[in-house]
Amino acid sequence: MRDSLRIRRAPGAGRWTPEVVLKPMHAGNVAAVLRLWRKTDGINTTDDPALVRRFLRRNPGGSFVALERGRVVGSVLGGHDGRRGMLWHLAVAPRLRRRGVGGALVKRALRWQRGQDIRKVNILVLRANRRALRFWARIGWKPGPIVILSRRLRAL
Ligand SMILES: CC(C)(COP(=O)(O)OP(=O)(O)OC[C@H]1O[C@@H](n2cnc3c(N)ncnc32)[C@H](O)[C@@H]1OP(=O)(O)O)[C@@H](O)C(=O)NCCC(=O)NCCS
Repeated sequence: MRDSLRIRRAPGAGRWTPEVVLKPMHAGNVAAVLRLWRKTDGINTTDDPALVRRFLRRNPGGSFVALERGRVVGSVLGGHDGRRGMLWHLAVAPRLRRRGVGGALVKRALRWQRGQDIRKVNILVLRANRRALRFWARIGWKPGPIVILSRRLRAL
């Protein structure tokens, strides 16, 4: 799996788009990553920078950014509990979609999970996010039997 990919030409575009490079996400990327998420449908945008930095400290090395000329154009967060892995917040800038960037970010994140001896990885997808469901199905992910139950915690 390459960390640098020359992404596919857009239909009708007269030239190749610049190379996109995948790098581990670090604290210095967080502001740009949040800007990407805020512009991205299908992603929960309530995260604040301190919480994302906390995530990166708790899950070192498992999250990646896609950079085009040094600018963040894609992201994925990854972590595990020692047994099962999780990916969150996969996002690609709209103008670079359908060029393989999303798939490459997922492969890179899964390579890291394998390196941590993780054999199964789960993701959460909003039921209404049909585009994401088609993407995940296309790259081999299957819906499981688990229902997510949530509860907000108030002061105890
Ligand atoms: C989902 C997302 C990350 C996909 O990124 P991407 O870079 O466009 O994905 P890829 O180019 O690697 O797509 C790989 C394959 O998935 C399928 N696919 C991707 N987007 C699709 C879409 N909108 N409709 C149908 N199939 C799609 C295609 O088969 C595609 O291959 P092809 O272009 O050769 O046909 C991107 O659409 C995105 O950022 N969406 C908004 C955020 C989001 O919903 N994230 C997922 C949260 S669970």
